[in-house]
Amino acid sequence: RAQREAVVSRHSEVLETANTHYRQQLRTARPAIEYLKSRGLSGEIAARFGLGWAGNDRQGLKAVLPNYDDPLLVESGLVILNEEGRRYDRFRERVTFPIRNARGHLIGFGGRIIGKGEPKYLNSPETPIFSKGSELYGMWEGRTAIRSNGMVIVVEGYMDVVALAQLGIECAVATLGTATTPVHVQKLLRASDLVIFSFDGDKAGRKAAWRALEACLPLLRDDASIRFLFLPEGHDPDSYVREFGPDGFRTALKEAMSLSQFMLSELVGRHPMEEAEGRARCIHDARPLLQAMPAGALRMQVQRELAQLTRLTPEELTQLIHLEDVPSG
Ligand code: CTP
Ligand code: MN
Ligand code: MN
Ligand code: MN
Ligand code: MN
Repeated sequence: RAQREAVVSRHSEVLETANTHYRQQLRTARPAIEYLKSRGLSGEIAARFGLGWAGNDRQGLKAVLPNYDDPLLVESGLVILNEEGRRYDRFRERVTFPIRNARGHLIGFGGRIIGKGEPKYLNSPETPIFSKGSELYGMWEGRTAIRSNGMVIVVEGYMDVVALAQLGIECAVATLGTATTPVHVQKLLRASDLVIFSFDGDKAGRKAAWRALEACLPLLRDDASIRFLFLPEGHDPDSYVREFGPDGFRTALKEAMSLSQFMLSELVGRHPMEEAEGRARCIHDARPLLQAMPAGALRMQVQRELAQLTRLTPEELTQLIHLEDVPSG
């Protein structure tokens, strides 16, 4: 444990040094400042999220990390060591988004290109202290708002988190370009009893929402609520809040779909429910989902609704799905 702490602090320290450098560089980086302004962000919000700028110098970090050959820099993801044995900065000509864990330690960066080019976002690689599947961007910055609003909103992108905060909705966090994992869900439910997923209004976003639902099922509790806000086609939370304002977004949040509604409407929507065959397939698809849910009041409610939709008695459905009726607690 003490050893682990030492690893975290060694990494955090070099990342903080880089972060200070990036932030310093942003002060005089005209195009980056203009870019952030064009996205509706104030200097104050940029400072609150610690946004920075990595310039085009291939070894820009050498200025602040003179021990540039230290393997720690490669291990931390700040420096790339190529096949010819040359070292260069990972983040160049990108706006930097520092990523902090729940305790405020700096664990990695995201970097957005401001012109054309690929990839649009570059993230720190997996390192001894950074794993995309278990971290959520904005958890640290949003911790107070999450508690006081009694809600955490989960979005896809860095910009969604920052744009929402700019307009006064400060309780959003983002998965880091990965699917929602059970570890994410655990952290979300620890942070709040109300979790609202709001992914992009496109095919990828809807797919991401379904995968999030699957990750949530084993962790459902009767005293927590998980909801899904589906934005109109073509919108993401950033574009939506800028078009309709914070009140527009809050109104949409109030109308977010419950997890059970989402699950049942998807299951029903996939099959011709007027046919016995369609209803049978619906039950077939529902089975692993219901089995993943812990026994409890919510599962019973879903079972009852599914029985109605598939024209079975609740007892018949229970038998088919092999669910014991006794809550395990
Ligand atoms: N992402 C990534 N690598 C990419 C593209 C996306 O890691 N090449 C991750 C980033 O965390 C990004 C998120 O997926 O924030 C959502 O991607 P997308 O919706 O494409 O981008 P936006 O966040 O909407 O970006 P922007 O508004 O800046 O264009
Ligand atoms: Mn997207
Ligand atoms: Mn509780
Ligand atoms: Mn998006
Ligand atoms: Mn966007």
